Amino acid sequence: MLVLGIESSCDECAASVVRDGAILTNCIATQVPVHARYGGVVPELASRAHILDVVPVIEAALQQAEVEASQLDAIAVTQGPGLVGSLLVGIEAAKALAYCYDLPLLGMHHIEAHLMAATHAVAAPSEPPSFPFVGLVVSGGHTSLFLAHDLGQYTALGHTLDDAAGEALDKVGKMLGLGYPGGIHIDKLSRDGDPKAFRFPRALPQKDSLDFSFSGLKTSVLHHLQKEATLPSGQALADLCAAVLEAVVDVLVKKTLRAARKHRVRHVVISGGVSANQRLRAHMRERAALDGINVAIPPLPLCTDNAAMVAGLAHAYLVRQAPPKGFAAFDLSARASWPLA
Ligand code: KG4
Ligand code: ZN
Repeated sequence: MLVLGIESSCDECAASVVRDGAILTNCIATQVPVHARYGGVVPELASRAHILDVVPVIEAALQQAEVEASQLDAIAVTQGPGLVGSLLVGIEAAKALAYCYDLPLLGMHHIEAHLMAATHAVAAPSEPPSFPFVGLVVSGGHTSLFLAHDLGQYTALGHTLDDAAGEALDKVGKMLGLGYPGGIHIDKLSRDGDPKAFRFPRALPQKDSLDFSFSGLKTSVLHHLQKEATLPSGQALADLCAAVLEAVVDVLVKKTLRAARKHRVRHVVISGGVSANQRLRAHMRERAALDGINVAIPPLPLCTDNAAMVAGLAHAYLVRQAPPKGFAAFDLSARASWPLA
């Protein structure tokens, strides 16, 4: 079964071809240069860039997979949540293809696609996850914990009460004068830093809380910087980045493993852009191993926004012949906000 996936919920325009669940291509047209000068995603610019990118990226995904559109069995597209103007570009492209080739059209949930990404491929040394598992979806727009009982059956365990973890890292990056997105620069700089050089606050440490809060960390970094005459550089910058990242990672790891213990599951999945972070991957694995918990993390190209996770999820639903959330024909429309559970 050949499925074409299309993803355009934020600032990445992506297309992927999946054959019987195996990822043949995972093409992404990134918009980082479009938004870099603004230090964050500008929705209007994102949707305009998607209009330019969507057809070439679909063509690239098909060509590299050596697949003709007429051979496809289904089209899957991210229906939400996300930026409405961006979502609409992917959805209209998907509808046009589905109409031309008379194919089923599946509207997929972006957070569910992240949550399930590790079920399509995992980075060594993880084992693939099995249900039930606790999933941490951590990106620029989301920081949420779910209990995944089965495909399409999820319980929300906790969410961020303010900023997403990636958003907080991006804002700290901006304060430090680093490039966009800040999370990636903080990751790189922190590798030479001492995470114990400073201690930033960990929010909501109560044992029963599975919610997150990252706005206090951002404010704390701002106060720290205001005490200095100039922005840090060299080793001081590396130490600051390491300490900020440590504060974020510490909370993400503790709460995810707390959720796993509470619900007595042996598998934990992390996904979303921030799961590309080396410190998060390493700490989650180290601490989970102490409890005999398997940590499944997708390979890097499946952590940040991509269409392989969208096509892979659609394939999983099609195999079970169960229509996914939002299964739709030509009246499918964007859902800017759409809770998963
Ligand atoms: O999943 P994603 O590509 O888009 C959203 O749905 O938000 O995640 C983007 C976020 C950004 O905040 C970016 O700074 C963060 O993921 N990110 C990282 C790393 N790579 C991406 N944060 C920390 N370390 C990384 N290596
Ligand atoms: Zn995402």
